[in-house]
Amino acid sequence: MSAGAEGRLGGKVSLITGASRGIGAAIARAMAREGAQVVLASRKLEGLREVADQITEAGGTAEPIACHIGHDEARRALVAQAIERFGRIDVLVNNAATNPHFGPMLSVDWGAFRKTFEVNVEGYFGLTREVALHLRARKAPGSILSVSSVMGTMAAPLQGVYGMTKAAVISMTRTLAMELGSDGIRVNALAPGLIETKFAAALTSNEAIRERIVARTALGRVGVPEDVAGAAVFLCSDEASYVTGHVLTIDAGWTLG
Ligand SMILES: NC(=O)c1ccc[n+]([C@@H]2O[C@H](COP(=O)([O-])OP(=O)(O)OC[C@H]3O[C@@H](n4cnc5c(N)ncnc54)[C@H](OP(=O)(O)O)[C@@H]3O)[C@@H](O)[C@H]2O)c1
Repeated sequence: MSAGAEGRLGGKVSLITGASRGIGAAIARAMAREGAQVVLASRKLEGLREVADQITEAGGTAEPIACHIGHDEARRALVAQAIERFGRIDVLVNNAATNPHFGPMLSVDWGAFRKTFEVNVEGYFGLTREVALHLRARKAPGSILSVSSVMGTMAAPLQGVYGMTKAAVISMTRTLAMELGSDGIRVNALAPGLIETKFAAALTSNEAIRERIVARTALGRVGVPEDVAGAAVFLCSDEASYVTGHVLTIDAGWTLG
């Protein structure tokens, strides 16, 4: 059930990309439960509508909007439509990402390389800029959260280009936290480990890779999208009012040692 205006995100409008499934959908449901009005974005409306229906049936408010986050015009239109629908945006969750090349770094073609950067870096930065300028114009505080990955914090064999983009997201988060702090805008990131989603199917469905990763986690399991959602709610709520520039690792201890 929706916690309405009294939830931990009560009164806030939250825009979440990649909200049609996986981690983004779990974050959207959790934010709506905590009282946020949520704008759900991804390329295909169909999946978004399903998540929006789940949220409204539970008493929340959700608006699905189709958007390819790699395209500047589409990003601007998304932000404009969200503001038209709810009057403002208070929280942005950059979550939609792509990883078209699974293999040694040297074998990547430029098409896959550019697509990875277009979505995972330009997409995140472009939306962050639009929302930060909107917050500044309103002289309103806000929270921007970007879903990076543990692959951005360590060597990422077979996922090297993806890892480069996730490291860029961490760099962007830290710099923007410094540059936007005086506007009251907090900027943080999440670094999930292996989470059971369509995106990670190449890893989770490969028994050898899955077991190797699980063996390195302290908790001895692969994560589920809901394992990530609580941290997103916390970092975007006023409970995290003194937290900015932080990268929160959610990996069951995989990267501990
Ligand atoms: N799963 C993991 O193990 C893991 C680990 C660390 C980090 N992450 C990160 O977590 C985030 C979410 O991944 P996930 O595992 O939840 O993936 P997922 O279940 O495959 O969901 C990806 C979402 O992104 C959307 N999307 C993809 N390309 C898009 C684009 N160009 N423009 C707009 N939306 C787009 C998809 O919807 P459409 O197809 O409708 O566009 C979908 O809603 C990503 O940033 C990923 O890097 C995942």
